[in-house]
Amino acid sequence: MSRLIVVSNRVNPPTGKGDESVGGLAMALAAALREYSGLWFGWSGKTTPEFTGQLAMQRIDGVTVATVDLEEADYDEYYNGYANKTLWPLFHYRADLTAYDRAYGEGYERVNCRFAETLRPLIEPDDMVWIHDYHLIPLARELRKLGVENRIGFFLHIPWPAHQLFTTLPGHRPLVEALFDYDLVGFQTAEFQQAFEEYVISEADGEHVGPHCLKAFGRTLHVGSYPIGMDASDFGKMMKSARAARMRDLMTAATVFRQLIVGVDRLDYSKGLEERFLGFERLLIDNPDLRREVLMLQIAPPSREGVEAYQEIRARLDALSGRINGEFSDIDWAPFRYVNKNYRRDELAGIYCASKVGLVTPLRDGMNLVCKEYVAAQNPEDPGVLVLSRFAGAARQMKEALLVNPNSPEEIAEALKQALAMDKSERIRRWRALFENVQREDVTAWRDAFVADLAGTAEKLKALAS
Ligand code: G6P
Repeated sequence: MSRLIVVSNRVNPPTGKGDESVGGLAMALAAALREYSGLWFGWSGKTTPEFTGQLAMQRIDGVTVATVDLEEADYDEYYNGYANKTLWPLFHYRADLTAYDRAYGEGYERVNCRFAETLRPLIEPDDMVWIHDYHLIPLARELRKLGVENRIGFFLHIPWPAHQLFTTLPGHRPLVEALFDYDLVGFQTAEFQQAFEEYVISEADGEHVGPHCLKAFGRTLHVGSYPIGMDASDFGKMMKSARAARMRDLMTAATVFRQLIVGVDRLDYSKGLEERFLGFERLLIDNPDLRREVLMLQIAPPSREGVEAYQEIRARLDALSGRINGEFSDIDWAPFRYVNKNYRRDELAGIYCASKVGLVTPLRDGMNLVCKEYVAAQNPEDPGVLVLSRFAGAARQMKEALLVNPNSPEEIAEALKQALAMDKSERIRRWRALFENVQREDVTAWRDAFVADLAGTAEKLKALAS
């Protein structure tokens, strides 16, 4: 078996203690590397005044973890800049928040070059290299320049935007051209894959030369969609932990006589938190009888705090949550708990289990793993209801959730009302179908499908040529 090298900007190896943070990518990659005794390469999370290129190597749970520090200017221009002020907002349909600055583009290229140079000596001839997410699109190109001929795959964890929107990005063409240095590019959903193909065909004179195979820029590229899943087996174990049970009991005791609605998201403008808060407010306005019956808990750990758009959304959410509580609370009762802190995954499992509704309403999301974990945490005999945005990649698989347009507080309020009133037999019927899906299409199935396709790309090319 070839060794697998996984590369991502964020490296968050499992501690085995369940205290990893919200943010599905790093958790999924840790699970994907299990059984591979592979290598995980990326940013250490630290900065230094000058780039040193020095590797820190650790061996964790059979996986070699190799990290490198970023230079302070890289952190500003590559991470805060091009990755999180340009690509992230644009790919999440927020052209209004997208900043175009030449220094950001230069920082992005520089860091991809530096990552390639630092990673190059670690790559052995039989390794398969799997690069993740929007931070590292040009990495294969830089590795190829250094003579790497290994199979290299890329997986985009976030949406690929519609063709017309993508062309608003200055330098959109070279970015796509860089993707043609991979052997396989994977998307979360068929819709994102289609948007990419449409771009290649209409903007880069591309053509299909076989199933899931595109030719453009004088090269051939395999593409596919691979919906990422949760780590179902690990989560199952966590559900049985004492910590999960303690949290479940604590939350159940805190909500006796009341129904708990829960949301858990990084504090990001793509998560639809403002609209969600307004949806909850609308529920309280329209249904005075529910006021003392429900409690909403929103956990939102701060994220990317160096980026202004994140500071601004935080301030708006502070004001909105304060307004809702001010408007509806009584001396012995408050409807809303808004918490800006991170909880361990095993604690979240307990919270999900104690809640009647999981409210997951991103305005755009590549996949979203919180909704899958919410489902996995439910009691099969008395499960809660999932209210899910139709614009999360997961909505394609999770059709038995109550699907809503996350831009509409009215639709969110209606779905909440329906969820709170849903009888047990319908809750069980919907939950069974959802649970079957999250177990079957889990993170291992995702990894195996991608890695098998990457391993098979050379054969497919040969077959096409003959
Ligand atoms: C999303 C992205 C990941 C990223 C994570 C946390 O899930 O797709 O690439 O790692 O958010 O964001 P951060 O900026 O803290 O790494």
